Formats: sequence, structure tokens, C-alpha cells
Amino acid sequence: MDYAATTPVDPAVIATMTEALQRYPGNPSSIHAEGREARALIEQARKTVAGAIGASIGEVFFTSGGTESTNMALKNAVRDLNVQRIISSPLEHHCVLHCLDTLQRTEGTEVLYLQVDGKGQPDLEELDVLLKEDGKKTLVSLMHANNEIGTLLDLDAVAALCREQGALFHSDTVQTVSTYELDVSRTPISFLTGSAHKFFGPKGVGFIYVNGDNLIGPYIDGGAQERNMRAGTENLPGILGMAKALELALARKDEREVYVRGLRDALWQRLRESFDDLQVYGDPGRGHYKLLNVSFPPSPQADLLLMNLDIAGISVSGGSACSSGADAGSHVLDALVGDPGRKAIRFSLSHLNTMDEVEQVVNTLKEILPASVEA
Ligand SMILES: Cc1ncc(COP(=O)(O)O)c(C=O)c1O
Repeated sequence: MDYAATTPVDPAVIATMTEALQRYPGNPSSIHAEGREARALIEQARKTVAGAIGASIGEVFFTSGGTESTNMALKNAVRDLNVQRIISSPLEHHCVLHCLDTLQRTEGTEVLYLQVDGKGQPDLEELDVLLKEDGKKTLVSLMHANNEIGTLLDLDAVAALCREQGALFHSDTVQTVSTYELDVSRTPISFLTGSAHKFFGPKGVGFIYVNGDNLIGPYIDGGAQERNMRAGTENLPGILGMAKALELALARKDEREVYVRGLRDALWQRLRESFDDLQVYGDPGRGHYKLLNVSFPPSPQADLLLMNLDIAGISVSGGSACSSGADAGSHVLDALVGDPGRKAIRFSLSHLNTMDEVEQVVNTLKEILPASVEA
């Protein structure tokens, strides 16, 4: 139950990638037949990804994943579009927060963090005031779904505020690009970022949508690949795998939502029946349907919960996977509640989970933890 960290590659995606490795050895930049064949496949994949988010083909560029795409959006907006101020939130993924630290330090970019409420929603009235009060060229960077607590941003509302005040808008949509409808032809977004390994595609490949009005240059210099926007020979199997994965996920989006929401709600219900004094983070009813982040009352057993669940064969996480290795805690929960005494568990589910697994998780927790309601 850690599918927000990553997902296994769908067998149909593996077939697409295997075929790419076996049948298409050409360098997409070569002008001979093998090269042209590879190029055509990449452009077909671009069409699929662009179509999935309502973009034009010329606005989608392939990258190594969500982290690179975000670095490209934020750093190149400062470098190429004269952005002097960035407004964000303390709950963003580290790929945003650490970019902002770097920009502050190396470029003198002014960085402001919006207040967030107890459920992780940034204060949009504050955003409105900030956008109106300063003439500096501004970029707003706010994620669509928080990867730890699932809080969903009102993308349309933020996009409208940014448009009214002439600000650029970047949204990290890594957790939602395959699970919620995104349509940049209706929602004015400047930069949107996605990553294949979150939607049953391969690791190490992603994309960035760059609205045609925002002429940023390359983040990685070198050859003329990706129409001069991202140098380096393209990861053909990865790109084709990502397009296939996105296509599959979107084709099954609605049925998966109903199924996964049902599992997540059942897990939440069973936990409430079984334990006293649970604390939930975010807003499960209105947040991303795959996520449930809860903490149990402090106890020696709760402190070792992640490890004990792992021993029992249950994979969950404390914070986001990217900050782990050790259980490093969570900057998101620290910003929300600041209660280090309680250890939170992020359950993130997918269509690969079952109701039996939900039961197994609850029963295992009841064995590990002391005071359950039924005990
Ligand atoms: C919300 C969010 N943004 C960005 C990333 C980074 O994406 P990638 O692993 O493709 O670099 C992740 C997860 O890894 C994420 O959950």
C-alpha cells in the first residue's frame, strides 16, 4: 500500500517497451530509416501525452521524470522569463522546495510560502492579495494533489487568479496526471509536470507541458533533441512505455477510481472501528481517493510501526519515499501539525490492492499496536 511512492510496470507497458528495445534500435535523430522510424514513434507518443492533457504536440517535452521537469519549469522561468518572485506552499514536494532554496540562494529570487490550513489547503485569499500587491514578475507553484496527505488543489481557481494578475502558474501534477482529468486547453496553466512511474509506467521518464506563450530554453544543454528543449538521445523505450501507461490508465480511470476509493474508504472505516484516538491528515473525503494518512497514539509499538508492518510484509511509508532511506519524518506533517510524538502512516492504494489486503492490514495493526477498541 505504497503506490504513491511508485508503481510496478503494467505488463502491457512492458510489452511495448520490450518491443521498442527489440525492434527499434535507431537513434531518433538519425536521418536513415531506423532513425526516422524511432522519431515517428516518439512523435506518436508525444501526441498521446499531449492529447491526454489537452495540450498541443509542440507544448510537451520528454524528461527524466517529475524532478527534472520541475527543475526545468522553475529554474528556467527565472532564467528566461524574468521571474523575480515565486509563491508556493511549505507542503510541496522536495523537488519544488529545494529548487526554491537554490533559486533564493543563487539568483536572489524572492520566495514566499502561503499559509496552509489544517487540511493542507493553501490560503488562496492570501495568494490573491500577494498577486495584487506587487509588480514583480511572479510565478506560482502549487501541486495538484499532495503526495503525503492527498489534499487536492482547486487548479481552476488558482489558474484564474494567476491569469488575472499576469502571473505564471506551475503545478506539480505527478500524483494526478493519470487519475484526475487535466485539460490545459480549459485551465490556463503555464507549466505542468508528470512522471511515468506513478502511473504503472517505467521509472526515469516523465514530461513537462510548457504553455506555448512561455518561451523557456533548455535545462540540459547539448544536442537539438526535443526541439532544442532537452538535449540527449531520447529514452525511446521509456517514452513509448510512458505513453502506453498513460493511455491505459486514462482508459480505466473511472472504474479504477470507484474501486480504489472503495478500498480506501473501507480501510478508513475499519481503522476507526478498531482504534481509538486516530488522527487523520488531509481530508480523505475530498482529497485524492488513493491516499489515507493517519497516526496512532504515541506508544513504543507505534514508534516502530513502519518497521513492524514491513516485517509483516506490508509496505507503507511515513513521509514521502523520496526523503526516506531512514524514516526521516515528514516536512508536510511538520508544517501542518508539528506533533513529532505521533508517527503517521501513509497508505496509498491502487487497483492492484484487494479488500482482503485491507483486512490483513487492519488485523496486522491490531496485533502490533496496544489499545484497539475491540481489545
Ligand atoms: C508530488 C511529487 N512530485 C514530484 C515527484 C518526483 O518525481 P520523479 O520521481 O519522477 O522525479 C514525486 C515522486 O517521486 C511526487 O510524488
